[in-house]
Amino acid sequence: MNQPPDIDARPTEPGSIAWNQAELAENPHQSSEKAGKVRSMFASISGSYDLNNRLHSFGLDQRWRARTVALAGIRPGDAVLDVACGTGDLTEAFARTDAGEVIGGDFTPEMLDQARVKADRIDPERRPRYVHADAMRLDYEDARFDVVTIAFGIRNVTDPAVAIGEFARVLRPGGRLVILEFAEPRNPFVRWGNRLYTNRIMPLTASLVARDGSGAYRYLPRSIETFHSPADLAAMMRSAGLDVVRQVPLTFGVCVASLAVRES
Ligand SMILES: C[S@@+](CC[C@H](N)C(=O)[O-])C[C@H]1O[C@@H](n2cnc3c(N)ncnc32)[C@H](O)[C@@H]1O
Repeated sequence: MNQPPDIDARPTEPGSIAWNQAELAENPHQSSEKAGKVRSMFASISGSYDLNNRLHSFGLDQRWRARTVALAGIRPGDAVLDVACGTGDLTEAFARTDAGEVIGGDFTPEMLDQARVKADRIDPERRPRYVHADAMRLDYEDARFDVVTIAFGIRNVTDPAVAIGEFARVLRPGGRLVILEFAEPRNPFVRWGNRLYTNRIMPLTASLVARDGSGAYRYLPRSIETFHSPADLAAMMRSAGLDVVRQVPLTFGVCVASLAVRES
């Protein structure tokens, strides 16, 4: 692999702007400094990340994660890797199932710190393990997991196709991958309303709640508009040797959960 790992990317200076207006006018996914900027902005908003999610999704974010867990079809004893786990909301949802082992991995230490504090409330028998990890270069042997998931994370990695290749590699044959990611709703009226909300209202209110100057909540809508479609993601999963079983639009297609199975 020629790509330098995301985990080695240098974050921008603490307290500085990660994404300025000019960079967001372009396609942020094409920025050569994307990984460092992504890491800086999540470091900056980590303390209020969960609160902003609840407020700005009107509580729907946890329902979307519950659908992701249901799609993964956990069997007793399954080993689960939740990549780009952030503050651990999806990881914790897996820890409440019959899974035998649940690991959450992320490359932003400040997000992992939040996840670990929350995990202290969980019964030690069921507590997930959090590790510093790069979606683009997973530190696990082939076929190690029954289930791999990534929620609202694939859009943020430097090269989604490389990351999906890694997910396929660490899945055992028959193992399941679930990708939950924002999308552009297909219905033009819903799309118009959603764009108004995510472009004009949410960046102001979410930045206020987070007291954020990094540009994280201006990057969010722009990174959705310029990201791959669910059909493109399905093509990447197929190229990685996965059988795409279902793509389920959630809440009028504001996000899509994709389930794929490793064939052999
Ligand atoms: C929007 S948050 C999603 C967090 C969590 N999955 C959730 O459902 O709320 C995206 C996360 O992706 C992580 N991330 C981005 N690129 C990554 C990479 N290459 N490897 C690991 N984590 C990455 C960020 O640090 C951030 O915590």
